[in-house]
Amino acid sequence: MKNSAVGPLHRDCGSLHPQDEGTEVEIRGWVNSTRDHGGLIFVDVRDSSGIAQAVADPRTAPEAAAAASSLRSEDVVALRGAVRRRPTGTENPKLTSGDTEVALDSVSILNRSLTPPFPVHGEADVEEGLRLKYRYLDLRRPHMQRNLALRHRAIKAVRDYLDEQGFLEIETPMLIKQTPEGARDFLVPSRLHGGQFYALPQSPQLFKQLLMVAGFGRYFQIARCFRDEDARSDRQPEFTQIDLEMAFPTIEGVIAVVEGMLAHMFRQALAVDVGAPFRRLSHADAMARYGSDKPDLRFGMELIEVTPAFEGTQFKVFAAAVQAGESIVGVVDEGGAARSRRDFDALARVAAEWGAKGLAWIAFTPDGLKSSLPKAALETQTIDRLGALTHAKQGDAVLMVAAERTEARTLAGKMRLHLAAQNNLRDARRFEFCWVLDFPLFEINPEGGIGPMHHPFTAPAVGSESLPGDPLSLRAQHYDVVLNGSELGSGSIRIHDAALQRRIFAMLGYPEDEVAERFGFLLEALAFGAPPHGGMALGVDRIVQIMVGAESIREVIAFPKNQRFQDLMMQAPARVPKALLDELRLRVDLPPAPPVSQRS
Ligand code: AMO
Repeated sequence: MKNSAVGPLHRDCGSLHPQDEGTEVEIRGWVNSTRDHGGLIFVDVRDSSGIAQAVADPRTAPEAAAAASSLRSEDVVALRGAVRRRPTGTENPKLTSGDTEVALDSVSILNRSLTPPFPVHGEADVEEGLRLKYRYLDLRRPHMQRNLALRHRAIKAVRDYLDEQGFLEIETPMLIKQTPEGARDFLVPSRLHGGQFYALPQSPQLFKQLLMVAGFGRYFQIARCFRDEDARSDRQPEFTQIDLEMAFPTIEGVIAVVEGMLAHMFRQALAVDVGAPFRRLSHADAMARYGSDKPDLRFGMELIEVTPAFEGTQFKVFAAAVQAGESIVGVVDEGGAARSRRDFDALARVAAEWGAKGLAWIAFTPDGLKSSLPKAALETQTIDRLGALTHAKQGDAVLMVAAERTEARTLAGKMRLHLAAQNNLRDARRFEFCWVLDFPLFEINPEGGIGPMHHPFTAPAVGSESLPGDPLSLRAQHYDVVLNGSELGSGSIRIHDAALQRRIFAMLGYPEDEVAERFGFLLEALAFGAPPHGGMALGVDRIVQIMVGAESIREVIAFPKNQRFQDLMMQAPARVPKALLDELRLRVDLPPAPPVSQRS
C-alpha cells in the first residue's frame, strides 16, 4: 500500500504493516467505530486508503483513553501512538492494516460530526434519495470510494493508451448551437444577445469533424455531454463520453483502436483480460438471433422463428398471425417446464406491459404437454415441428409471441433477457463484448418519417453513395460496441463530401433554409478540403458501471441527478431571482415562487 504521508509521523490508515512494529505514527481520518472492551477503548479510523485500529489503555494513557471514549462515528481525528502486532487470533485479514494496531498516546479531535443520517461504515442499503441528499457522506462509504477510484484508473488508462496511439486531447466548447443527437437540448440564455440561446452539447460530434478538417489526424476528449431525455438506469442528463475521431480511417482501423483501448482499460482498472478481438454480428443477425441491436452474449437462448410450426394451426390467434404475414418468435426456457401456471401467467403480464398482445407457452413436462394453447391446437405435427425447430427437450418450455416481425423479435428478445435474469444467467463478473455492424442508414422515426439510425453525418455503405433505391434498404458505415447487453459506444465513418451531406439532409426532410441555418458552417467546412474521417464515442459511465457490476450509472458518478433529473443536495434545478430573469430578458409563465422559508 502506497503511503501519501503529509508529515513526519503521518501514515495512511491502510498502510500499517507488522514490519512497522515499534514505529511512532500519526493516523488521521474519520471514526469508523468505537468499542469499549473491558476498559480498553478501541477506535477504528478510516481514510481513503483503508481502516486502522487504535487502542487506548486508560492505565497507561488516561488522557487519550478519556478522549477516545468521547468519540462518535464520523468525528475527524488525528491519533498518535506506536504500531504493534495485534494479539494472535485477533487479526482481521479483510483489512490491509489488519495485522496491526496503534497503541494510543494521544488523541486530537479535529472536528466533531453530527450523527450521520445513515451509517457511513459498511455497505448498508440506504434509500437513494437520502444518499443523494447527503452525497458527500455517501461518497465517504468504502464501496463508493472504490467505484470512483476505479473510474479514475479507467479514464487514466484511456488517456495513456490514446496518447500512446498518437491521439491529441482537445477540448471543445460547452456553449454551442444545437447538435442533432436525437435528444432534446438544454438551452442557456444569452444576456448579451437577449432572446437568443446557446445549447449545451449533446456530444462534440461536429467539433470533432471540424478538427479533422483542421488537420488534427487523431483527436480524443473525455467529453461532458448533455441530453434532456427520459431518465433510465443507464442514462443521465449529463454524462461523459470518450470521444474520438481519426482522419483517413477504415472501419477496421477504428475497431482496432477501440478494442485496444477497452482491453487496456479493463486490464489497468480491473486486471481483466477482455479477450480481443471481439465477436462481430451484423445488425440483421443481432435482431434475428437476439431481438436487440445490443445483444447480451453471456448466454445462448437464441430466438427462433417458429412460424412454420404453426402453419394450418387450429389456434386462432396464431392462424390469424400467419395469415397476416406476421412472425411467431419463440425462446426456449431451459428447465422451464417446472414453472407453475401462475408463473407463466406472471410472465404473460410482464410481456403485456411491454406491449405484447399475448404470450403463448408450451411446456414439455415428464407427464406430457402443458400449454396456454387450447388442446386442439397441440396437434402432433405442430409439436413435432416445434421440437425440431427449437430443440426443446423434456423439462423445457417454449415461450412465443406473434406480431409484426421486428416487434415479435424485440418482444421475444426482452423475454430472453427477463428469463435469463430469473435463471441467473446474467453474470456480472463476465464480460462479453461484441461489435454490431452493417446498420441501416435510416429508420422510421416516431413521427412516421425517415430519421437517421445514428446521426445525419454517417456515411452510407461503400458503393451506395449514389443513394439508390428504397432509403430504408440503405446500409451505413456505422458500428456499435456492445458489452453484456449494453451499448457502450457508437461510431461511424462520416460524410466528408458537402454535396452528399446536402442530399442526406434533403432525404431526411430538412428544409433548405434550416440546413443553411443549422449546418451552414459544416457544409462550408466540408467544401474546404475535408479529409475522409470517422470515429466513435463510448459512454464512460456505462463502462465503469458494468466494470463494478452496479445497477445504475449513478453508482459511478460522484454527483449524479436522480431519476427526475434533480440534484437533491443542491436542490437544482431551482427558481432564480426576478432580477436575473430581467437581465436575460426572460419572463417565466408561472405563478411567483413562494418565499424560500415556505418551500418543501
Ligand atoms: P451516441 O449518441 O450513440 O453517439 O452516444 C455514444 C455513447 O454515449 C453513451 N450515452 C449515454 N450515457 C449516459 N447517459 C446518457 N444520456 C447517454 N447517452 C449516450 C452511450 C452511447 O453508446 N456523436 C456520436 C458518436 C459518434 O458518432 O462518434 C454519439 O454521441 O454509451
